This record gives sequence, structure tokens and C-alpha cells, in this order.
Amino acid sequence: MAEETGQLQDSAESTTVVVIGAGPAGMAVATLLRHSGIDCVVLERRSRDHVAQRQRAGIVETRAVRMFDSWGLTDRVLGGVPYDGILEFRVDGRSRLVSDSDGSDGPPARLCPQQVLVQKLTTTYLEDGGDLRFEAADVSLHDLTGDRPTVRYRTADGTPRTITCDFVAGCDGDRGVSRTTVPDGALTTYAFDHGIGWLTVLADAPPPAHPLLAVSREGFAAHFPRGPRSSRYYLQCPPDDDPDAWPDTRVWDALRTRLGDPGLVSGPITDREIFRLRSLVHDPMRYGRLFLVGDAAHIVSPMGGKGMNLALYDADLFARAVRDSVQGDDTALHTYSARCLRRVWNDQEFSHWLTRTLHDAGDAEPFLRNLARARLDRLFTSPAAASAFAELMTGLDPTGDAMAREVPGNLSALGGD
Ligand code: APR
Repeated sequence: MAEETGQLQDSAESTTVVVIGAGPAGMAVATLLRHSGIDCVVLERRSRDHVAQRQRAGIVETRAVRMFDSWGLTDRVLGGVPYDGILEFRVDGRSRLVSDSDGSDGPPARLCPQQVLVQKLTTTYLEDGGDLRFEAADVSLHDLTGDRPTVRYRTADGTPRTITCDFVAGCDGDRGVSRTTVPDGALTTYAFDHGIGWLTVLADAPPPAHPLLAVSREGFAAHFPRGPRSSRYYLQCPPDDDPDAWPDTRVWDALRTRLGDPGLVSGPITDREIFRLRSLVHDPMRYGRLFLVGDAAHIVSPMGGKGMNLALYDADLFARAVRDSVQGDDTALHTYSARCLRRVWNDQEFSHWLTRTLHDAGDAEPFLRNLARARLDRLFTSPAAASAFAELMTGLDPTGDAMAREVPGNLSALGGD
């Protein structure tokens, strides 16, 4: 053991933060740290091409846009186009437009596909002199509760490497190594399976005028823009359904029926998969000097588009906390988990509410269907309900920024040391 430690010390590099994973969470953390002049090394298992092409979320919420604005980074990291905040609900073919404008000043949300954000964050980080290592294999985390954690990995050619650091940012998603390194019992996991499947289809077909969510007795469907000539569609299906059971003609027929649009223009389908809607929270989002960021700490059902935005929220809080810590103030590191989780549960509740409402309003048993339709009716007719919805869609609700100004009373109760 002593010999092994001796070898490691010979070859070990040193940095302030090792970031595991180069998805939206990892690249946001790395870019904000680098922008603050804080050293970090990003280790990503996959190749740069793979990460840059991965398509998922599409809307950077208002709060996240303003967060990048406050760092002076908007022009460098955000692509896409400003989003006018209009969401279309189509209930049995009848269109209702809902605005998520909250009337506040400042830049609005952006239609910015995840891969565009990740590519731009990566470019910004590298332009600022960032250290980003792709194809890092067998990443392992050690001494997380000590003063100087160690991260080991192998380069693409198999060379072992060791990095010591002050903090590890676990940004490696739900199936990464960071959270699984935490000993059993240290985190409490809250998991929920919605019992709903979605077939998701990417196609070279015209985007809708507004992001569109449709309720019908045949099940939920949605149509989102993903670029000037590409769209993502969602179709509710049994959670264990087989994508092969959905040939192109069935996909387009189902979309035309559920969207109530017989003239919907089709196009070549470039990707199709089925996933279960599930929600997951790990509490606390910290173990020693490991801080979990993004999907490594929480999965939110895709309804409401909060997954990527929560990751950006965590990244902002973590980067600010490290910046404070480097200047001698650890308060924000101690409160990181509690502040993130407050926002996480708020968005979980919103996503769950929207998931239930839009699915139950379609094909649930009659009592639940009528409840869900009453909720939609309230959203379409009550200015107060529309305003609460807008607050949640923009991410500008008080569970976000207000908490950042609160002073904790009891640090140990907040997931700190
Ligand atoms: N070592 C190094 N990198 C790893 C490892 C590992 N052992 N395991 C996973 N990774 C990398 C993945 O290859 C991926 O690039 O970590 C990254 C995790 O990225 P995401 O899964 O996209 O997670 P996150 O960045 O938290 O995403 C935030 O954006 O679009 C949404 O669905 C996405 O909700 C999620 C959000």
C-alpha cells in the first residue's frame, strides 16, 4: 500500500477541481470555474464528437439565460434564437396559447438545443485555456472525505494518470461513477416511476410555430423545434413498448391524429427511441469533497424541460461556492446541497404536475380525466394560474434566487460537513 501511494505521488498532477463528465452540467461548471480563474481538469469518458452530437433538451429557461448574462458569458455560450415564451396546448385539436412571459425586464429564454450549448461551452472553456480530456477510461475517485481527494483514470492509450484536487464535481449523469462511489447509506434516494413511456422521434421536418403539447383520447403527443428544418416529437406509449413497433407510417398517423393536424408535414426520421418517464433525487448532493451536479444528483421527468436547466442551476451555485471557498469563505459550499435541493423539489413538483395533467387529461379513467381537464381550464382562464405557470416555466420563482441570499442557521442540517 505504501509502495502504491509512493508511485502515485511521483506521477500525480494537482488542480483545484476535477470535473467528471462533459455534458451540460460538467461543461457549465468547467466554463464558469475557468472564467473565474480557477484551475480545473475535465475528464470525459466519450469522444469529443460523441458528446458534441448528443441531442436532448432544447430550451434554456429565462433564469439560466440571465445566469449566463450575470457571468458576462451569454454571447459566447448561448446559440439558437430567443424564445418568445409562447407555448401551444392543443386539447382534442383545439389550440390554446399560453405565455410564459412574466413581464420582467431582461433577456428571455432561448431555443438552444443541448448539443449547441455543449459545443459552445466547450469552445469557450478551451479558448479560455481549459484542460479537457476526452476518452478518459476507468475513472475512479478516492479519499473524498480527506483534505485532498484523488482521481485516477487511463488515457486513450491506456496510460494510468492520477490527479489530486480540492474538490470533485460529479457531473457524469445518472449512470456515472461519481455517485456510485459514495458508500451505501450516505445518500437517501427518492425514486418515482410515472408508469408512462414516450416514443421520441427526431425528424428533418418543419418545426412548429410554438412548442406544442397535445392532449387527446389516443394519448399525449408533443412537437418541438430543434432547428430551422428539424423537429422532435413525442408520443405517449406503454413503457415497455418496442420502437420497432413504430414504423414511420404509424408514427406520422399517430402524430396527425393526436396533434389534430391531418396536414402535418412529415420528413425523414433520423432517430427514434422509447424511454420511461421517471424521477429521481439523491439527498444530499454532496459527500465529503465530492459535489454532485445535474443528472448525477437528480432526474426530472422531461415534461416542463427542467433537466438541463436544473443542471445549469447547480453548476452556477457550485462555481460560485468554489470561488468563495478559494477566497476563504466555505459558507456556500456547506449550503450547496440544500439550496440545490430546494429548487430540485420545486421543479420535480412542477414536472410531475404537468406530466399528470397532460396524460390524465387524455386517457385516464373518467374521474382523473375530469380533474386534469379542470386544471387545464384553470390554466387557460385564470390570470393567477397562468402567472404561476409562467413563473415556473421561466425558472424565476422564489425557490431559486431568493434562497441564495438566505443565511443558513444550522449548517450540519443542510448537507454540509
Ligand atoms: N467517466 C467520465 N465521464 C463519464 C462517466 C465516467 N465514468 N460516466 C458518464 N460520463 C459522462 C457521459 O459520457 C456524459 O458526457 O458524463 C456526461 C454526463 O452528461 P449527461 O448525462 O448529459 O448529464 P448532465 O450533464 O448532468 O445533463 C444535464 O441535460 O439534456 C439534459 O438529459 C440531460 O437532464 C440532463 C441535463
